[in-house]
Amino acid sequence: MDKITVNGMTFEPYLRRDEIARQVQRVAEEIKRDCTGKSPIFICVLNGAFVFAADLFRACNFNDSEITFIRYKSYCGTSSTGEVKEIVGLNEDISGRTVIIVEDIVDTGVTATQLFAKLRKHNPADIKLATLLFKPDSLTCDVMPDYVGFRIPSKFILGYGLDLDGLLRNLSDIYILSEQADK
Ligand code: HPA
Ligand code: MG
Repeated sequence: MDKITVNGMTFEPYLRRDEIARQVQRVAEEIKRDCTGKSPIFICVLNGAFVFAADLFRACNFNDSEITFIRYKSYCGTSSTGEVKEIVGLNEDISGRTVIIVEDIVDTGVTATQLFAKLRKHNPADIKLATLLFKPDSLTCDVMPDYVGFRIPSKFILGYGLDLDGLLRNLSDIYILSEQADK
């Protein structure tokens, strides 16, 4: 794996696709263990989680489970009081059901906190949060993911669904912003 340069920033290889696949499988095993007999509904948070959700949903291999998609936009990015605006809403009835929110990354926890609040209004039996990446040092909210692929430092990440200005979500491996100045 080589470094990549985009918009004048250099990114180094960080998590390889085989390691990602291993951790996705482990998270799937944890979800299967906890959700036996529960027919969970997965809610993939677009856009970033689409790659993780596709792999996780298949790895769980339930034959009585649904997946659906929502999309929210944060107002003012990272403000801990920030509201989230609904771009694609929930169409399914989740009352009385076990919901698994699928996120690409939890950093401040603002979006996850708002999502919990919004989804609770639909009276699900239970809400679990699965995230591929978790930046514990960035957390400003009282929210904790139930399933975590990788705990990572608070640096910018790219690939496997995560973007830089909408680009490079298609990378199969994950890259991290390099501290080194470009040579
Ligand atoms: N990379 C891409 N998107 C993000 C990140 C990141 O590190 N954190 C929050 N959204
Ligand atoms: Mg996300």
